[in-house]
Amino acid sequence: MNVSVVGSGYVGTTIAACFADLGHDVRAIDIDKDVVAALNRGEAPIHEPGLGDVLEAQAGDRLQATTDYEAVRGTDLTVLALPTPTDAEGRIDLSVMEAGAERLGEALAAKEGEHLVVVKSTVIPGTTGEAIGPILEARSETDLGEGIEIAINPEFLREGTAVPDFLEPGKIVFGTRRESRDERTTDEAGPTHEERSSRGLALDRLYEVYEPLLSNEGVPVVETGLREAEMIKYANNAFLAAKVSLINELGNICKVYGVDAYEVAEAIGLDDRIGAKFLRSGVGWGGSCFPKDVAALIAAARDRGYEPELLDAAVGVNDRQPERLLELLDEHVECENERIAVLGLAFKPGTDDVRNSRAIPVIEGLQARGAVVVAYDPVATDSMCEHFPDIEYVDSAAAALEGASGTVVVTDWDEFEALDTEFDAMSEPVVVDGRRVVSRREGLVYEGLTW
Ligand code: UGA
Repeated sequence: MNVSVVGSGYVGTTIAACFADLGHDVRAIDIDKDVVAALNRGEAPIHEPGLGDVLEAQAGDRLQATTDYEAVRGTDLTVLALPTPTDAEGRIDLSVMEAGAERLGEALAAKEGEHLVVVKSTVIPGTTGEAIGPILEARSETDLGEGIEIAINPEFLREGTAVPDFLEPGKIVFGTRRESRDERTTDEAGPTHEERSSRGLALDRLYEVYEPLLSNEGVPVVETGLREAEMIKYANNAFLAAKVSLINELGNICKVYGVDAYEVAEAIGLDDRIGAKFLRSGVGWGGSCFPKDVAALIAAARDRGYEPELLDAAVGVNDRQPERLLELLDEHVECENERIAVLGLAFKPGTDDVRNSRAIPVIEGLQARGAVVVAYDPVATDSMCEHFPDIEYVDSAAAALEGASGTVVVTDWDEFEALDTEFDAMSEPVVVDGRRVVSRREGLVYEGLTW
């Protein structure tokens, strides 16, 4: 197929590269000339394992980037992967999405033939149908269902494993306007290609673009309405964030009773109603998605008069974890004027992304205590420099530990597991581990956050 992807952030770049890898001809559209130039050189504008290799193979061939929205006219469908940042109240700011939809609609006005617009961005229920759809209709001067159609196909890929997540999805969700779907019957063996072709423009093209992935056995496809698909994305992230907050709350209780929360988590994870994943307790969740999406869902609930107490509490527990980490450090080190090492700045391993990283409140808390902060991360130092230009950054964990009075572990990078004699370079080795990566051993004052 000919596919265009508007927006070349984490999600847009990954799906543009992966769709090209699956055999589609892809046009990536972004207003940033530098990003477009990097993509055309086959360089990943972000740190994402495996993405560079796919881009290098596809750039200039099946993947071409441009700043020109007119490129959408030569494509069968456009994926909108534009950011939906959070405003001061936690609500999503739709201005970038709306501006993108306007330009897309204008470009489509001169397109021959049918076109599908697929929203990838995370948006509150109602946005695709009631905000994006009408903009496309007005700017393209075409009614939905009369040559253009909209759908939402939320993305569940994780930073750090985005490429394999895309290529081996746990599920694929197609949200379409119910009135755009033809009446059909499906038997237990699943729909045939002919049945798919009679499903209307949106489902037909969605199945076609994902065909190479659907031939893998066992990828469930969820066909649903626009609002349901929009909500599925929020519910997925809110559930996972709340799951981590719940294990963190249980972990905090474990800690005060001298119980190892990881042993507890391993046991409860055997109950398949609970599941073993997302039970790693510690300094909490960060990133560009969980904090933003939970905040947006809370704000959206309040806008309709519903008080989301459990989600509020999940955020509250998460906000408290960095301070709990520092309170454990306080038990062993008087931080004022002391050198304290922060190991890990990225919000999780495998990425240079520091958005809402737990390292940010940890560093702020250390600064409030008058500590001299020295920080190390294998890839995220440059990103964190923008938040904290004045702390010391070093290029190895060993250099961070040299002469430090204490260290806190904030990101579970594998390389921290291998640290051993490096701790002896500290004046009195004190490690407060927020991610359970360092092993407890003789000669080390070791505190686990929840164990
Ligand atoms: C998350 C979701 O997992 C993806 O499915 C979703 O597509 C994505 O958001 C998104 O909305 O774009 P991501 O933010 O990349 O992906 O990161 P996760 O691997 O989910 O981790 C989120 C945070 O939770 C990290 O700070 C991580 O350290 C923390 N976490 C995760 C824990 O503290 N404990 C755990 O057991 C698991």
